[in-house]
Amino acid sequence: MPAVVVVGTQWGDEGKGKATDQLGQDVDYVVKFNGGNNAGHTVVIDGEKFAFHLLPAGVLTPGVTPIIGNGVVVDLEVLFQEIAEIEERGKSAASLKVSANAHIIPSYNRLMDRATEKFLGDRQLGTTGRGIGPTYADKMNRIGIRIQDLFDESILRQKVRGALDQKNDLFEKVLGVEPIDPEAVADELLSYADRVRPMVIDDSLVLNDALDAGKTVLFEAGQATMLDIDHGTYPFVTSSNPTAGGACTGTGVGPTRIDSVVGVVKAYTTRVGEGPFPTELLDADGDRLREEGGEYGVTTGRPRRCGWHDAVVTRYAARVNGLTDLVMTKLDVLTGHETIPVCVAYDVDGERVTEMPLTQSGFHHAEPVYEELPGWTEDITGVRRFEDLPVNAQRYVERIEELARVRVSAIGVGAGREATIVRHELLG
Ligand code: GDP
Ligand code: IMO
Ligand code: MG
Repeated sequence: MPAVVVVGTQWGDEGKGKATDQLGQDVDYVVKFNGGNNAGHTVVIDGEKFAFHLLPAGVLTPGVTPIIGNGVVVDLEVLFQEIAEIEERGKSAASLKVSANAHIIPSYNRLMDRATEKFLGDRQLGTTGRGIGPTYADKMNRIGIRIQDLFDESILRQKVRGALDQKNDLFEKVLGVEPIDPEAVADELLSYADRVRPMVIDDSLVLNDALDAGKTVLFEAGQATMLDIDHGTYPFVTSSNPTAGGACTGTGVGPTRIDSVVGVVKAYTTRVGEGPFPTELLDADGDRLREEGGEYGVTTGRPRRCGWHDAVVTRYAARVNGLTDLVMTKLDVLTGHETIPVCVAYDVDGERVTEMPLTQSGFHHAEPVYEELPGWTEDITGVRRFEDLPVNAQRYVERIEELARVRVSAIGVGAGREATIVRHELLG
């Protein structure tokens, strides 16, 4: 039975929340494998909107076990806030599980995140300020705090003291802020222990047993390919691996068990935060995409940078993720344009390239080469069959499919769960 990975193919906010929710109707487990509450995933059910940051989008589906995998970084305050919020709305997170190996975002790393940005000055990344980067850095530096540490008070205190030994020096001497009391941090973390305990699992064991028993598992990525620490536009990236391989390291499920990798792709492109973006539109067309697409961040409320579809990026994402399918979202937002440009190549310092430039400097210099596709004017939000789309909308999808060399298996024509055209079953 299938293990299906859902990833973002661009710079995030492609509609992974909606895709996960929709596919999640027919699965047993939805597991997040990377990132933390830097993510903002929107799900719209019967007109009611939910925005998830840390909770897997499957949490609303009866019968689904939502899991926060070992590759995720967990802000405990945010976790319980989100649980309380959905409970206030009559939903339950009672079946939520968390990996014992997931790392915790201690409050000092939120401070470190903002301080680092400040010190970068005009080279800043525009992070979400949630402490993501410093927490992954601690993990790699082997001074991180894990969920399991909540259940051994002396180890926890020792680890918090160890981490702050290094950081307090920096806070005090470089940033001019008061040193942080490790015992107060440990007390705060320990105050969550009893609530976390019933949720804690060995995610690798639970998921592999589930797959052995013929259950279906959906792996939900946060962020996206171009924000990947290895494969994205470094250093303008997040600090985890949102690409498909991250689903394996972030949950303890081996690559041989993954059946398909679904890339979610917006019909156009958006980016939040700093960094190169070849098809960015700084004109009225960009404003129009932002307004018509409602392109404002779910997590920070920042206006998203908008541009035309970049098929070089989509093909790159197909390669580094080994995509089997694409889910194209927001095709409805492109209605009403006379022609729609699609970027098919770049000019980089006088040379035409159709693959991602070898170096980051090359990508910074990339000028988009556009192909103009004819647009359509008909309202497509009510369309549910591909052949009922205006012929130019069909051609737009088919051209991107051709350029990406991956089939487009579903198309979003609205934010609601039902506003989708399915061409190929993704859980077959
Ligand atoms: P995620 O981070 O990848 O889950 O995406 P976000 O939730 O941050 O942003 C996607 C936005 O697009 C949300 O507001 C969704 O409700 C909305 N959305 C998703 N799919 C579609 C679609 O096909 N059409 C329209 N109009 N909106 C969509
Ligand atoms: P979802 O899952 C869009 C961006 C930030 C910043 C960079 C680093 O909703 O697609 P971080 O706080 O992660 O250290 O910030 O990454 N970023 C996102 N952009 N969608 C997201 O998540 C993002 N998560 C992080 O804006 O540029
Ligand atoms: Mg988002």
